[in-house]
Amino acid sequence: MKIAHVVGARPNFMKMAPVHRALYGRADQLLIHTGQHYDRNMSDVFFEQLGIGDADINLDVGSASHAQQTAQVMMRIEPVLLEHRPDVLLVYGDVNSTMAATVVAAKLGIKVAHVEAGLRSFDRTMPEELNRLVTDQLADILLTPSRDADENLEREGVAREKIFFVGNVMIDTLVRLLPVAESQLRASALAPWLDRDYILVTLHRPSNVDEPEHLRRIVGVLADLAREVPVLFPVHPRTRARIENAPPELHLVEPLGYLEFLALQRKAKLVITDSGGVQEETTFLGVPCLTARENTERPITVTCGTNILVGRDVERLRSEARAILGGNAKRGSVPELWDGRAAERIANILERLSS
Ligand code: UD1
Ligand code: UDP
Repeated sequence: MKIAHVVGARPNFMKMAPVHRALYGRADQLLIHTGQHYDRNMSDVFFEQLGIGDADINLDVGSASHAQQTAQVMMRIEPVLLEHRPDVLLVYGDVNSTMAATVVAAKLGIKVAHVEAGLRSFDRTMPEELNRLVTDQLADILLTPSRDADENLEREGVAREKIFFVGNVMIDTLVRLLPVAESQLRASALAPWLDRDYILVTLHRPSNVDEPEHLRRIVGVLADLAREVPVLFPVHPRTRARIENAPPELHLVEPLGYLEFLALQRKAKLVITDSGGVQEETTFLGVPCLTARENTERPITVTCGTNILVGRDVERLRSEARAILGGNAKRGSVPELWDGRAAERIANILERLSS
């Protein structure tokens, strides 16, 4: 069995790692990095910490407009797929690299397996929603993290036999590395944070950070909260470019490695985010999470987990945060098949389908 994996952006790496490990010795594997993310702390650090080794090929597409970035991935991946002709191309999540690689493979008649298929926010103003719709329509094997995803795919007319509920691969990585995360953080400059109460923040959605006035309002609320409980904010590069004159109360730091960020999530009193993956990780960890979005493609983190959607209402963000800090946090449970074994199920399915 010849398998190629395509990754490009930060959240792809922790999803691919367990699948790559599960296929070790069972398939010939080719790891293609599109280069959508390229800063050391948005890319290389994950390859090191997740123990993946280097990518076999880096397409070096870098940053550009959606059309240009998507087109560059398509142009640069086509000759690679033609040369290597994998039996299956594995794509992850919902970033531009995912969709671009899928379109090319589908046209070359190469089977596409989509890990994290079927998630829907039903919000077509999100670039990720468009990527999910295109990817899932073209994919041959749809590997879903939750039952709502199966339902979405069936409603869109995807044949039942193409859909496999496997659970959440991101949780595989979390389960494997949680035992070593805290010692990594203790060895870093952020060690003192482990011994205090704090709020952990990540923000990078265009709907939050590309509108200066809205971003200013969110940052204002975070600064108010920081007068009560320290706020640690590892800043995504998209956001860094847009935050000017950050209030001195906020502790802004560069994006963190996976292990450091995981250890910080686990010990946080509260996480405020708009990240997809962070909604899932806090649900698994049982840590209260406020999501600064109107909708989520991961509704199970709300119905089953610790996540609360506060939308664009910054006063709601403030009051929900105060309630949680005051001891009134929502309790949750761990969704079905978020058990650390999703990648093993994927490897078994791929093996069965290829035999
Ligand atoms: C991308 C994904 C988003 C995902 C996020 C994860 C798409 C459409 N968006 O958003 O779904 O949640 O990654 O983090 O695929 N930049 C750097 N260094 C880097 C990478 C980016 O400085 O290594 C800066 C550049 O100025 C770039 C901007 O960040 O223009 C945005 O990068 P891009 O990959 O286009 O989108 P993200 O916002 O990172
Ligand atoms: N993450 C990280 N360092 C950080 C912020 C996030 O390692 O400074 C991890 C986080 O734990 C999760 C993943 O990055 O595993 C989520 O990626 P991101 O928020 O960039 O993308 P999304 O999930 O929103 O697509």
